[in-house]
Amino acid sequence: MKKAITILGIESSCDETSASILVDGIVLSNFIAGQQIHESFGGVVPELASRAHQQNILPVISEAIKSSGIEMSQIDAIAYTRGPGLLGSLIVGSSFAKGMAMGLNIPLIEVNHMHGHILAHFIKEKEGINKFPEFPFLCLTVSGGHTQIVLVKDYFDMQIIGQTIDDAAGEAFDKVAKILGFPYPGGPLVDKFAKNGDANKYKFPHPKVPGLDFSFSGLKTSFLNFVKNNLTANPNFIIENKESICASIQKTIIDILLHKLKQASQETGINNIAIAGGVSANSGLRSALKQAEENLNWNVFIPKFEYCTDNAAMIAIVGYLKYLNKDFSHQNLEPQARYNF
Ligand code: KG4
Ligand code: ZN
Repeated sequence: MKKAITILGIESSCDETSASILVDGIVLSNFIAGQQIHESFGGVVPELASRAHQQNILPVISEAIKSSGIEMSQIDAIAYTRGPGLLGSLIVGSSFAKGMAMGLNIPLIEVNHMHGHILAHFIKEKEGINKFPEFPFLCLTVSGGHTQIVLVKDYFDMQIIGQTIDDAAGEAFDKVAKILGFPYPGGPLVDKFAKNGDANKYKFPHPKVPGLDFSFSGLKTSFLNFVKNNLTANPNFIIENKESICASIQKTIIDILLHKLKQASQETGINNIAIAGGVSANSGLRSALKQAEENLNWNVFIPKFEYCTDNAAMIAIVGYLKYLNKDFSHQNLEPQARYNF
């Protein structure tokens, strides 16, 4: 019988320290430690993030191995996030991965974080039906740092056909939340309040950007002015209308994303549509995609909630696919804060 391949994935690109064990692409554990320390700062503080990774990395990896039920000696390779991300955060995860791979005398596999978000669609679950996107598919990758439409022809053959020219969609959610006085990261809170609001109560302008590119910085400015003007007229404006403000701005962001995704589908003739990245956890975006599946005859692929935001299972699945290609990495590769694929 063929030997099973066991991969330890390590993710530390931003403010989540995560480790995961995958055996033949099936997830046995996916342990994530968030960092609450950034909440009151309105964004991730890089220096604090690095320090928190340093504290979390050993317990997180130990827990991922322990809860998977495997022995450390069974690990065949270690996959880690090389970039993009915060350099200090990346250094913690990559240095740990290198040291551990050297200690265990096993191969090291570097992974592009954005690759991880996209290939998270191929993580297998032990139980239940595993439904994977068929190639080629379009992937709307929406996170705190990226907003891209990626044409995915194969696991390692991808092309960015549209992207933001300024802020990312996650950044837009977080900035809107900050204006409303919510702690960081505000995206999930906007999502939560939007559920009970009227999405058509307030209107915001859509940017006019050529091709398949996006822009969100203008929306942020118009939202800021909208809130300021309304607060001048009514100091309780946010408290009284929180739900509908969130629902309306969320709808605007989703409409902007969906508009370009539809355009990309029309231009490429591809109906296999996937979403990835932290913002794909947004319930409004998920239901808009499901709606589009019915109305536009799309095959829609939405990752399980826990594989949307940063996690190490998505790094481990890329590691597994690279392992099959014997695509190993040298110990002397340095982390990359900016890292295109
Ligand atoms: O992929 P991710 O975990 O980290 C990056 O690689 O950036 O994405 C984080 C982003 C944050 O901006 C966060 O506010 C946003 O994803 N996010 C959401 C939701 N959950 C996470 N935005 C809107 N609705 C959500 N439910
Ligand atoms: Zn991410």
